[in-house]
Amino acid sequence: MNSFDPSISNWEDYLRVYEFSIKHEDAFWDAVARRQLKWKKAWTKVSDNDYLTGRVNWYPGAELNVSENCLDRHIEAGNGDRKALIWVGNEVGEERIFTFTELHREVCRVALALEALQVKKGDRVVLYLPNIPELAMSVLACARIGAVHCVIFGGFSAQSIYSRVKDCQASVIITANGTYRGDKWIDLKAKVDEALAMGCPSVKHVVTVMRHSESKSTVAGNSPSKEDVTRNVFWDAWLASIKSEQHQAQSHSALDPMFILYTSGSTGQPKGVLHTMGGYLTYASYTHEIVFQPQKDDVFWCTADVGWITGHTYLLYGPLANGCTTLMFEGIPTYPDPGRFWQIVEKYQVAIFYSAPTAIRILASAGDQFVTQHSRKSIRTLGTVGEPINPEAWKWYNKVVGEERAPIVDTWWQTETGGILISPLAGITPLKPGSATLPLPGIQPAILNDAGIVISGAGSGALVIKKSWPGQMNGVYGDTKEFPSKFYDTYFAKFKGYYFSGDGAERDEEGFYWITGRMDDVIKVSGHRLGTAEIESACVTHPGVVESAAIGIPDPVTGEALHIFIVLKDKVAPSAELMKTITETVRKEVGP
Ligand code: WT7
Repeated sequence: MNSFDPSISNWEDYLRVYEFSIKHEDAFWDAVARRQLKWKKAWTKVSDNDYLTGRVNWYPGAELNVSENCLDRHIEAGNGDRKALIWVGNEVGEERIFTFTELHREVCRVALALEALQVKKGDRVVLYLPNIPELAMSVLACARIGAVHCVIFGGFSAQSIYSRVKDCQASVIITANGTYRGDKWIDLKAKVDEALAMGCPSVKHVVTVMRHSESKSTVAGNSPSKEDVTRNVFWDAWLASIKSEQHQAQSHSALDPMFILYTSGSTGQPKGVLHTMGGYLTYASYTHEIVFQPQKDDVFWCTADVGWITGHTYLLYGPLANGCTTLMFEGIPTYPDPGRFWQIVEKYQVAIFYSAPTAIRILASAGDQFVTQHSRKSIRTLGTVGEPINPEAWKWYNKVVGEERAPIVDTWWQTETGGILISPLAGITPLKPGSATLPLPGIQPAILNDAGIVISGAGSGALVIKKSWPGQMNGVYGDTKEFPSKFYDTYFAKFKGYYFSGDGAERDEEGFYWITGRMDDVIKVSGHRLGTAEIESACVTHPGVVESAAIGIPDPVTGEALHIFIVLKDKVAPSAELMKTITETVRKEVGP
């Protein structure tokens, strides 16, 4: 019996666990899976991976139920009355709160209702919903019955819905009549109807949540066809026919597909990133615990939309698997004013706040008074994800929001990685503004130079990972099982034997990692290699600049020329003089 304890609560733990994880990979991931989750059947092998052919399989032979791990087991442990989900709507004062018992009841009803629509294990269910509790219920219900959920972010167009539904051949779509984001009403159902009109014969049922009763949208669009009338149903009517509140969670294989998330790469068409039940949930649970160090009764708030991987892993699955209270917000950071985040933090006593650099920069530009008018005493930890955070924004977040007492975890990961790979552990890892710091246990990053050779010590290059981890995607949906697959071609072909992240990174003398941005965004000006992230970080040190984006434009003299889009602070007017000072800032920060 494996008795290694992978938990981490101080720096010595981190060093010890990291070392063990590299020396005894299988024993380490075996211990993590046992500790984090409840399994119905143990694995026959910890993993079966081969980067040379693009094979990633975790915990083969094992069985579990994801939804049971997120709900039932906490109730069985006597925590049914603990808050599972705090939902905050777009309008101030709009809230719905669910205990684990209450959320479990709703998930069971939705699972039964999906089964009543003949949804079976392996079937795909598309969710085109805003951040509302019905979305949490739907994904957990899918996972419970083994249906594969595919959440499409509400900002995507009808054309994008169409191509995704066509690719994954979904039989059911769950949507809402719309959502408010700030003062803007977005009619989601109209976009679904438009997508269906392009032809999605796989779709047998469309379920619509009435988010606002005053919306004009009808259940079947404006001119419903016969088919539309029969395949459309309202959420409330759908659930009204379900009389039971109990649904027995079945065992699913650890390798059964759990969800698909479409993400853009270098090709024109988004890829369906596929994650599997056992590995994904193990990794979501473990990383949520070690990175954020949640304590009993903490309110954890990840501001992401569930339409992205961050929302999957750290708004829903990670915290719920760990029995934590998670907060879900439907609105935007600037509505009704730029103090909204901190008003919510104060009201719900949020302990851990996890957001994105863009949001932080927007709020920083709005003025400190929007932050300081609300108490942030409850905050113990701050987090950031999604793009490199420039030291300027990091320092503002640290000083103004966190009052210099809340560590910032700058978490580096991707849709493909399922969970965080490189990040400080809150309150444990020493911090450097702008650095994602060190790899989590079990993660072996390497930096390759232009020739594809691993470099040691300080230096920069392509960021690759040497060995698989349980959160790693298992494949591209609809891919061939033959070698070479799309999965292999995209992630393993460029550097043989490694997973290539697509990112560039720099490692300093102390082994700390600094993500420099996508390698596909690297530009070369007169032979000088520039990271767009580096340029953008320089621009925002200029006092008039909120946000910037740098791109390369082909140039006959210099190869590529640098072009920068700039978003100015409110009340700062564009002028030639301003452009000159911004250019000077870039010359100063990056080089002439
Ligand atoms: C890309 C992945 C991970 C969830 C959100 C984005 C960039 C992500 C960081 C960070 C610097 C970061 C990378 C990565 N990225 N986190 N902390 N520092 N860059 O997921 O859409 O799959 O994007 O986001 O370039 O490759 P995604």
